Amino acid sequence: MSVIKSARDRWSSRLGIIMAVAGSAVGLGNFLRFPAKVAANGGGAFMVPYFVSLLLLGIPLMWIEWTLGRYGGGFGHGTAPGIFHSVWQKSRFIKYFGVIGIFGPLVIFIYYTYIESWTLAYSFFAITGKYAQAVDQAGMKSFLSAYQGLEHNQYFSGISTAYLFFLLTFIANIVIIFHGIKGGIEKFCKWAMPCLFLFALVLFLRVLTLGTPDAANQNWNVSSGLGFIWNPDFSALKSARVWLEAAGQIFFTLSVGIGVILTYASYLSKGDDIVLSGTTAVSINEFAEVILGGSIILTAAFVFFGPVDIKSISQSGIFNLSFVTMPLILNKLPLEHLFGFFWFFLLFLAGVTSSVSLAQPAVAFLEDEFNIKRNKAVFIFGLVAFVLCHIPIFFLKNGVVDELDFWGGTFFLVVFATIEVILFSWVFGMENAWKEIHHGADMEVPRIYKFIIKYITPLFLIAILTMWLIQDWIPVIFMKNVPVENRMYILATRILLVIIFVTLAFLVRIAWKRKLTKRQD
Ligand code: ALA
Repeated sequence: MSVIKSARDRWSSRLGIIMAVAGSAVGLGNFLRFPAKVAANGGGAFMVPYFVSLLLLGIPLMWIEWTLGRYGGGFGHGTAPGIFHSVWQKSRFIKYFGVIGIFGPLVIFIYYTYIESWTLAYSFFAITGKYAQAVDQAGMKSFLSAYQGLEHNQYFSGISTAYLFFLLTFIANIVIIFHGIKGGIEKFCKWAMPCLFLFALVLFLRVLTLGTPDAANQNWNVSSGLGFIWNPDFSALKSARVWLEAAGQIFFTLSVGIGVILTYASYLSKGDDIVLSGTTAVSINEFAEVILGGSIILTAAFVFFGPVDIKSISQSGIFNLSFVTMPLILNKLPLEHLFGFFWFFLLFLAGVTSSVSLAQPAVAFLEDEFNIKRNKAVFIFGLVAFVLCHIPIFFLKNGVVDELDFWGGTFFLVVFATIEVILFSWVFGMENAWKEIHHGADMEVPRIYKFIIKYITPLFLIAILTMWLIQDWIPVIFMKNVPVENRMYILATRILLVIIFVTLAFLVRIAWKRKLTKRQD
């Protein structure tokens, strides 16, 4: 019954799809967001809800998205509106819920690419020694602020350098996407991922041999640094906020609840294994996040700054650990230029392998639902995304990145995941779903997951949403925590997000109407 459009691109190998999905998952979230969350939430305190969320949300959703994506791909659909409609053909409205699966990645792409471009710039600065004169936290912070165009000082007098690196990064993304699934994304991820892991392993080993650099603080050593991450604190389980943060991190880091895995999986064939491949991609991501991402930056920061400062540094801004503390630490080591380059270039590779996946749903939507050729679809996407990317570039200081991250990278992830899991286990039906997951599978999913996917995952997600509605709805909607001078910018960002969402929903409507007319002709 499946109608496979022969024109749809395909992955060329199992290794290729695993590398691409792992590439999508391993990103700035692993090396930048995760360490900041762990440090800000008291180290080991964060790890209990984090691992519970991984087992009850992350892993099930990874399997669900691979399965739904492959299933929808069989009908020629690579994005959530069409995939959801394939699963629930009787419903006229489910396709509109699928709009989130194009909207979310597009919104994340807008600010993600800009942050990614900082890592390319800093790789260059590391090699050329440009930030070497900044010798303390304050100096390195003002280097970053000047680069972002937030202040003028001896380092930068405007945003032109940042803009140039943004252009290079944006073009790199577009070129990769332009070459398609097999020829672009897969090819790039196949060399970028091993390269990234090599750089990360070198840094990891270097950090493990840091010893006790501060003679006055003998407790600030590598093993206490590792203990900071690994000693669990069960009292943290009582805090709702820690649970929300941990669940949000799991979604973001695995790229689930966004819509990108659905799209990647739609390029699989019916007989391709998804259980083992999905599990492998999760394992690669968790290794990169917990073992490499967490240990490199947190252990190094602990050894040099101790447990109290590490918390205040991370609470003072999500980018401070990576762009302020880390270059300061690396500058104290021999071969500082090389280690600095390894650090920032690994962030850049991690960023690009993720951002191309964030672009793919919008491109696939144009190709699949409007029969637009790839180069034209990439051109349209590139034009729209390019214009939108100027919002974070020029309004960073007004809090727009946090706003985009909240809606695109946090709130809608949970909503989308809730819709997916209910659709999968209750509409598609758990028996069908179980059969579909295991098509072509080399291993069986533990049976307990039948129960978890049907009851625990949806309940967990609904509990998170309810908790959010009770605790945060009013302050968020009325911008209670937004400084008065930024409120107009935040309001404008929200209006823009609504416009993007409505436009996408309208495009879905047009696409379905056209198909209906064609069928009647
Ligand atoms: N999963 C990607 C990351 O962690 C989006 O950065």
